[in-house]
Amino acid sequence: MEAHLRCTSHDGGYSHDAIVYALTECGVRHIDTAKHYGCEERLGKAIRESGLARSDLWLTNKLWPEDYGYKAAKKACLDSCSRMGVECFDLYLMHWPESLKPGRSNRETRAETWRALEELYKEGVCRAIGVSNFMVHHLEQLKEDCSQMPHINQVEYHPFQQPNHLMEYCRQEGIVFEGYSPLAKGQVLSDPTVLRIAEKHRRTPAQICIRWSTSQIGGFSQDTVLYALRDCGIRLIDTSKYNGFEVQLAEAIRESGVPRSNLRLTNKLWPLDYGYETAKAAFRESCSRMKVEYLDLYMLHWPASMQPGRSNRELRAESWRALEELYEEGLCRSIGVSNFMIHHLEQLKQDCTVVPHVNQVEYHPFQQPNELIEYCRREGITFQGYCPLAKGQALSNPTIFQVAQKYGRTPAQICIRWSVQNGAITIPKSTKRERVVENCQVFGFQLEEEDMVAINKLHEGRHVSWDPTDVE
Ligand SMILES: NC(=O)c1ccc[n+]([C@@H]2O[C@H](COP(=O)([O-])OP(=O)(O)OC[C@H]3O[C@@H](n4cnc5c(N)ncnc54)[C@H](OP(=O)(O)O)[C@@H]3O)[C@@H](O)[C@H]2O)c1
Repeated sequence: MEAHLRCTSHDGGYSHDAIVYALTECGVRHIDTAKHYGCEERLGKAIRESGLARSDLWLTNKLWPEDYGYKAAKKACLDSCSRMGVECFDLYLMHWPESLKPGRSNRETRAETWRALEELYKEGVCRAIGVSNFMVHHLEQLKEDCSQMPHINQVEYHPFQQPNHLMEYCRQEGIVFEGYSPLAKGQVLSDPTVLRIAEKHRRTPAQICIRWSTSQIGGFSQDTVLYALRDCGIRLIDTSKYNGFEVQLAEAIRESGVPRSNLRLTNKLWPLDYGYETAKAAFRESCSRMKVEYLDLYMLHWPASMQPGRSNRELRAESWRALEELYEEGLCRSIGVSNFMIHHLEQLKQDCTVVPHVNQVEYHPFQQPNELIEYCRREGITFQGYCPLAKGQALSNPTIFQVAQKYGRTPAQICIRWSVQNGAITIPKSTKRERVVENCQVFGFQLEEEDMVAINKLHEGRHVSWDPTDVE
């Protein structure tokens, strides 16, 4: 399977061999560089040496502030393309908010430069445009001064540097947040907490940090969503404010022409918005970004409140009361929770009136919370399983592979079928058209009992997403 790790060559050193190895042996397809790092020619050479097609790569480059200004920016982008031997970049970023050009204000120069990037985008020289190291006030100014918001903001992000407010802002504005320096230039690798977690999971500290920073977001393809709606008859869309794709989804839905009444739109309330008033405000904002008046299902995303000084239980109950009212008003056709364990559900039962209609929980062959499933069935809570493919990890499992061969199906189809046959509603995700089709074709066959049992035996308690077990 393709890997989309970032292969960053910058002033911290450059190794031609490591780049070629990453491309040819590790499946790395995403290269992030900048004129400022001074290795564009060498990268271009490594890419050619790898023999990979340009269309298989994602190339990011950045405009250095000395080249800010309308004409200079356009020239710098084309010069960078020429040094790397490519015709376009998949993403081109303004590297830094300060212009380094005396005599003009930063704001004015940024806006003028951004207009050049907007044009490069329209001309197809840059397939996406963004910024790097921009804070909220820089983004706000750009919003006032220009017509196109950045697709991406690339910012320092690791366990010691978590710009949550900025991330929130980006989510709300539909700007993808891309974190750099996930290892804090090596400084987090000796942190005692990271070391302890690495030991627990038998991974290296670097793997733990990267896993932590890649979070839950698996990418977004507007074209694929449109295809799923228009050509595959998919009508359920599961998203969350946290994922940051509400604005793009609204656009895909509008373009698809599918009437709102035919869709089942699910969204989730992020814990930083927990609380009675804030939950209602967050709901309204999500609806406004998605350009809808109601949601079919709205869930509390996570049992921890992430708000110091208030207990999780208290904030969950307060937020749930807001959801109950949204439900009574018809603004949410149903309400639910996600990642809730039995003890969270029991507390909610004691504290509130409406029993959640749905509990959306990680569910795949390696993670089968059967006691929770039983509890949900007893209490009349619909069990919805997420990550049915274990984020792709289940697809290379020998048992899954053997069963797939037996039925002439793909491993993904076997995993999805297994979920469905166990009575779980399941929500596989893919950013690729052909996989969306593949993942839909799970209804024309039945897994025999012995195969269901064989897959049931794969449970090992592995979480590929979050583990809410210890959340109070
Ligand atoms: N409530 C929560 O807290 C929570 C947490 C995590 C996820 N979720 C929800 O669950 C949904 C699915 O979760 P997920 O995307 O994390 O995991 P997933 O569906 O188990 O796996 C998705 C991964 O598998 C790949 N894939 C999909 N179909 C494939 C196929 N037929 N063959 C090979 N590879 C395939 C995808 O890559 P490509 O895109 O490259 O195809 C992606 O890397 C998400 O959309 C999200 O809405 C909810």
